[in-house]
Amino acid sequence: MIEKIERVIKEAESFLQDNKLNSEDFRLKYLSRKGILNELFDDFKKINNEQKKIVGQNLNKLKNKLEDIHQELSISGKTTSIEKSSGAIPDLTLPEIPNQLGGLHPLTIVKRKILEIFARMGFNAEDGPEIESDWYNFSALNFAENHPAREMQDTFFVEKNAITKDDLLLRTHTSNVQIRLMEYKKPPIRSIMAGRVYRNEAISARAHCQFHQVEGLYVDKNVSFKDLKDTLLHFAKEMFGKDTKIRLRPSYFPFTEPSAEIDVSCFICHGKGCNICKHSGWVEIAGSGMVDPNVLENCNINSEEYTGFAFGMGIERITMLKYGINDLRLFFENDVRFLKQFNGIH
Ligand code: PHE
Repeated sequence: MIEKIERVIKEAESFLQDNKLNSEDFRLKYLSRKGILNELFDDFKKINNEQKKIVGQNLNKLKNKLEDIHQELSISGKTTSIEKSSGAIPDLTLPEIPNQLGGLHPLTIVKRKILEIFARMGFNAEDGPEIESDWYNFSALNFAENHPAREMQDTFFVEKNAITKDDLLLRTHTSNVQIRLMEYKKPPIRSIMAGRVYRNEAISARAHCQFHQVEGLYVDKNVSFKDLKDTLLHFAKEMFGKDTKIRLRPSYFPFTEPSAEIDVSCFICHGKGCNICKHSGWVEIAGSGMVDPNVLENCNINSEEYTGFAFGMGIERITMLKYGINDLRLFFENDVRFLKQFNGIH
């Protein structure tokens, strides 16, 4: 057995000289579970006790030697590959490394689609600030001071405006843009406003402290509740498929009267009942209603002459429904494995 051990040492050393094996092949041959060293340790168990001492010493010597050689091969392997890459002529027959094409974020894809559908109905896109005063986010929208509805939207407050002393906050919804629009434009107004909003919510799969909404506003003479229903039905068909139905449920918002939540028929199970619609056949997508006359008056629009409707929906929610995404946090983590799945969708 000692002879065999010596033979293995010689053989292993020869690899170091003529670099025949790379370090990984060497490890597999000698040091792995099924390698030569383990085989020898198995034989060692079978020999008699007198021989054990001397053979054991030799085996340990072999083990150390093999580990040294392995380490040396790993180091020299690295240097040779660096030498190769710096000195050698590149192989021109290799296929080129393809350019990595970026894609649109799923929220951008859905936002654009929503804006596009409303653009075809004559809604123009508008924008507004994310840091907002209490007036635009709440008071002008008919939220009385101390009204419990303010509590529904856990607000992040920022420092007061140093000049106007207004309370400043991160807008909790896109409805602030309604007010800004009505202040500087006279009806007819037919606009759609998309943007980021913030609420002080614990982050989980179903809630986040930041998300996106799209707000719609139509103010003109004789705008009726039927116009609201027809507009949202058309949107639902365009967005989720032509067989989609909508359902309006009475609701409450301080800035609309009457108010309604809009549900769409589940486009996954077509009303039969599934996990997405929690077996009800319907999924909620928006809040809506007729603009409260107080809100029109707050913006100096004569509420005897003009009426309007407004609606607001969460872009994350629609994106999750459309693409079967079950965790809100994915939208903000920028994990490329998630984002790449939307490459090529516009
Ligand atoms: N701003 C409301 C919300 O964030 C949604 C809404 C917009 C409701 C417009 C009615 C009209 O919940």
